[in-house]
Amino acid sequence: AALGAFDFILFGGSGDLAMRKLLPALYYRHRDCPATDGWRVIGIGRHDTSREAYVAQARESCRQFVSPMDFNDAQWDAFAECLDYVQLDATQAGDFAALGDKLKDSESRTRVFYLATAPSLFTVISENLGAAGLVTPASRVVLEKPLGRDLESARQINDHVGRVFAEHQIFRIDHYLGKEAVQNLIALRFGNVLFEPLWNREWIRDVQITIAETVGVEARGEFYDSTGALRDMVQNHLLQLLCIVAMEPPPRIDADMVRDEKLKVLRSLRPFTQEEVASRTVRGQYRAGAIRNKPVPGYLEEHGIDAQSRTETFVAIKAEVDNWRWQGVPFYLRTGKRMQERLAEIVVNFRNVPHPVLRATGGEPTNRLVISLQPDEGLRLDMMAKVPGQSMDIQPIFLDVALAETYRTRQWDAYERLIVDVIEGRLTLFMRRDEQDAAWQWVEPIMQAWERSGQAPKSYPAGTWGPTASSALIARDGHAWQEEA
Ligand code: BG6
Repeated sequence: AALGAFDFILFGGSGDLAMRKLLPALYYRHRDCPATDGWRVIGIGRHDTSREAYVAQARESCRQFVSPMDFNDAQWDAFAECLDYVQLDATQAGDFAALGDKLKDSESRTRVFYLATAPSLFTVISENLGAAGLVTPASRVVLEKPLGRDLESARQINDHVGRVFAEHQIFRIDHYLGKEAVQNLIALRFGNVLFEPLWNREWIRDVQITIAETVGVEARGEFYDSTGALRDMVQNHLLQLLCIVAMEPPPRIDADMVRDEKLKVLRSLRPFTQEEVASRTVRGQYRAGAIRNKPVPGYLEEHGIDAQSRTETFVAIKAEVDNWRWQGVPFYLRTGKRMQERLAEIVVNFRNVPHPVLRATGGEPTNRLVISLQPDEGLRLDMMAKVPGQSMDIQPIFLDVALAETYRTRQWDAYERLIVDVIEGRLTLFMRRDEQDAAWQWVEPIMQAWERSGQAPKSYPAGTWGPTASSALIARDGHAWQEEA
C-alpha cells in the first residue's frame, strides 16, 4: 500500500545503523510502494559533506546491504531523488535553523525524527527540535536502544523527551519485534487452539531463548565496551522475546492491550538477590579462537577496547516468571558474540509423557517446539513416531516449516516493517515507557551485583558456545541447551 507523503529525518545519518539497515530498508520500501510522491529522507550528520557525497555513500552501502538481485541503478536513482543531507551539530541549538529551512511549508506532513545516535544525545536533540519549533502534531520520534545505561538514566531521557513529544509520538524501537518469526510466534499462539492448553507449567518443562552471533564487536568497539551484552541484548531483545512467549492473550492486537500484557510479564520476573546473581547468571568474554576454522582475535585485542576491560560479551541467565501460568518453569536466556554459530531461536521443551508405554530409541521421548529467527526463519515441532518395521519403538520426527520456502516471497527486514509502522503511527511493536522501566528494573540488580563482585567475566574461546559455566547453569536443573541435548 502507498505510504503518503512524509519527511524522514535521520540523525546519525552516516552512522553504522543508517547505512547498514535504515537506508536499505527505505530503498526497499521505495522500490515496492506503488506511489512514493512526497517522500523525503534527510540524513543529518556533523560532517561537512555535500548532498552528492552523502548520496554516493548511501548508494555504496545499499549496494552492499541490499541483496544483489534487488539492487538496480534505475531504482536507486529514483530513490536517490528523495535523499537530502543537512550538516548539523546536534548539541548546537543554532544549527537547527538549517533543518527548519528544509522543513518549512511541510508542517502538515508526517514527520519522523529517527535518532540513530548514542542515547546520550536523545535529550539534547529533542530539546533542540522543540526549541526550534520543529515538533508538529504529525511528528514522531524514534529512539534506538539502548535507552540509557540504567533505570535512572532511562528515566531522565524519557522525562526530557517527554517534555517535547507526547507518549503516543514516541517510538522506542526494538528491532527483534519486527522480525517475521517473532510475529509468527504471536500468530502461532493466538491463531491456533492447539498450543494454548499446553502453554503453561503443567506441560512446559523449560524455555530456552538464544541469540548467538559469530561476529565480534566490529567497528563499534568503543560503544560496545561501555555497554556490554546485558545492556545491548538482554535488557531489550531477549526480554522482549521472553514477553512474547510468556504473555497472556491480549483481547485485541491493539498497541496498549499488547503492551499491557508484556508489562505484566516484565513485572512478574522474579528479582535476583546478590547471591542469586552469582548462581543464576553467567558472564563471559571471548578470547582468541576460530570461527569456522578462521582464527579471530580475542575481545581485548579488538579495536577500541580497553586492554583491561571487564565488559561481558556473553550472558546466560536462568530467569523465572512468578505467576500462575509459569511458576517453576525456568526461562534460560543466552546471548553472545563470537559464538560457534549465528543462531537465534526460542525452544519450548514440553514435559515427558506421564508414563512410558513405548520404548523410545535414543533417549527420552521429547516434544519440543523450536521457533527459529536466524539464520533462517522457521518453525519445527519435534514429535515421537514409530520406528518403521515390526517393533513398536518410537523415535523423534520433525514437522519442519521453512517460512521462506512456504511463502516464496521476499521476507521483509525487521527495520522495513518497523519504519512503516512508525510512518503510519502504529505503536504495537514499540516499547512503552513503563515496559522499558520494568526491564531496567529487573536487569539493574544483575549489573550491580556483577560490579560489586569485582570478578572478571569468564573467558571462552571464540567459536564456542560460551563459558563452560553456561552448560553447568542449566545442567544443575537436569537440562541441557538445545544443541547439547
Ligand atoms: C543490535 C545490537 O541491537 O542487535 C548488536 O546492538 C547486535 O550488537 C544486533 O549485533 C543483532 O541483530 P540481528 O538482527 O543481526 O540479530
